[in-house]
Amino acid sequence: METQFLLFVSIFCTLIIHAEGIKPIVFMHGIVAAADEADPLRGFVEEAFPGTNVTSINAFNHLQSVVPMWTQINTIKEMVRDSLVNSPDGVNLICFSQGGLICRGLLSVLPHNVNNFISVSSPQAGQYGDTMYLKYFFPNYLKQNVYKFFYTQAGQQWSIANYWHDPHQETLYKQHNKFLAALDNDTATPNATMYKDNFLRLKKLIMIGGPDDGVITPWQSSHFGFYDANDTVVPMEKQRFYEQDSFGLKTLDARGDIYTYIVPGVQHTNWIKNRMVFEKFIKPWLTE
Ligand SMILES: *[C@@H]1O[C@H](CO)[C@@H](O)[C@H](O)[C@H]1NC(C)=O
Ligand SMILES: *[C@@H]1O[C@H](CO)[C@@H](O)[C@H](O)[C@H]1NC(C)=O
Ligand SMILES: *[C@@H]1O[C@H](CO)[C@@H](O)[C@H](O)[C@H]1NC(C)=O
Ligand SMILES: *[C@@H]1O[C@H](CO)[C@@H](O)[C@H](O)[C@H]1NC(C)=O
Repeated sequence: METQFLLFVSIFCTLIIHAEGIKPIVFMHGIVAAADEADPLRGFVEEAFPGTNVTSINAFNHLQSVVPMWTQINTIKEMVRDSLVNSPDGVNLICFSQGGLICRGLLSVLPHNVNNFISVSSPQAGQYGDTMYLKYFFPNYLKQNVYKFFYTQAGQQWSIANYWHDPHQETLYKQHNKFLAALDNDTATPNATMYKDNFLRLKKLIMIGGPDDGVITPWQSSHFGFYDANDTVVPMEKQRFYEQDSFGLKTLDARGDIYTYIVPGVQHTNWIKNRMVFEKFIKPWLTE
C-alpha cells in the first residue's frame, strides 16, 4: 500500500516537472535594440518547450544601449539577481551581440547559478571594424583613428568604446579601456580573481557566430579570436587571456565545457530570428 502510494507520488512529481518545461531562460538584447528582440526566440521556445519562462531584460533599450557597459551591468545585475543567483535549478542565459558582453559582465560580478551561457554573435574578444554602427554614431572617424576618441575619458562614456580593441594601440587600450581590458585582466585589476571565480560557476559556454555576420569584426571575436598587431586573426587558444587563464576560459575548456559553432550564411541582425540557428545550435542546450 505504502509502496504504491510512493510510486504514485513519484510519477505525479515527474509529470509536474515535465509539464513545467525546462530551466527558465534569460535573454539580453544587442545595441540599439530592445527587449522585444527576444520575440522570435520566445516563439521558437514556446513551440519546442511550452510553458518555459523566457525573461527578456527590459533595460537600456534603443539609444539607451550605448551608455557605458558597467552602468548597464550595475543596473541589470539588480534586476536579474534573483533569477541568476537564487534560481534553485539555475537558468540558461542567451545573449546577443553587445548583450553577450553585458552577460559576461554579469557572470563576472554575480555569484550566479547560471547553467549554460549561449553567446550569440557577440564580440567577446573586442571589436575593430568599420561597421554601420560606427558610421552612424561616429561619422567622422574610421576604425584606424577612432581610438583617438574612444581611448579617452569622454570616449569611454560609450558602450562601443568599452569593447573597442584597436590591435595597433595596445598601450592606450590598456590605459583607457574601462571594461573589456578589466574583464580580461589586461590591466591587472584587483577584481580579476572575483571575476574568474564567478565566471567558473558556469556549467557550459556555447558560442555561435560566423563569417557572413558582417558586423562583428573580426567575426572570430564571437569565439574569442582576435587580431594581432599585424591584423592576423589569432584563435582563442593563442590569446594571452586564454593562455594565462585570466578569467577561467582555459579551465572551462579543459573541463570540456566550451562549445563553438561556426555558422556560415547568417547576417548579424538575423541570428535570433533564424529558426535553423535555434533548432541546431540553441535548442539542444536548453534541455540540459
Ligand atoms: C518568470 O521569471 C521571472 C524572473 O524570475 C519572474 O519574475 C516571473 O514571475 C516568472 N514568470 C512566470 C510566469 O513564472
Ligand atoms: C571592483 O569591485 C569593486 C567592488 O565590487 C567595485 O567597486 C569596483 O568598481 C570594481 N573595479 C573594477 C575595475 O571592476
Ligand atoms: C608582424 O609581421 C612582421 C613582418 O612580417 C613580423 O616581423 C612580426 O613578428 C609580426 N608580428 C606579429 C605580432 O605577429
Ligand atoms: C591578473 O594579472 C596580474 C598581473 O599580471 C596577475 O598578477 C594576476 O595573477 C592576474 N589574475 C588572474 C586571476 O589571472
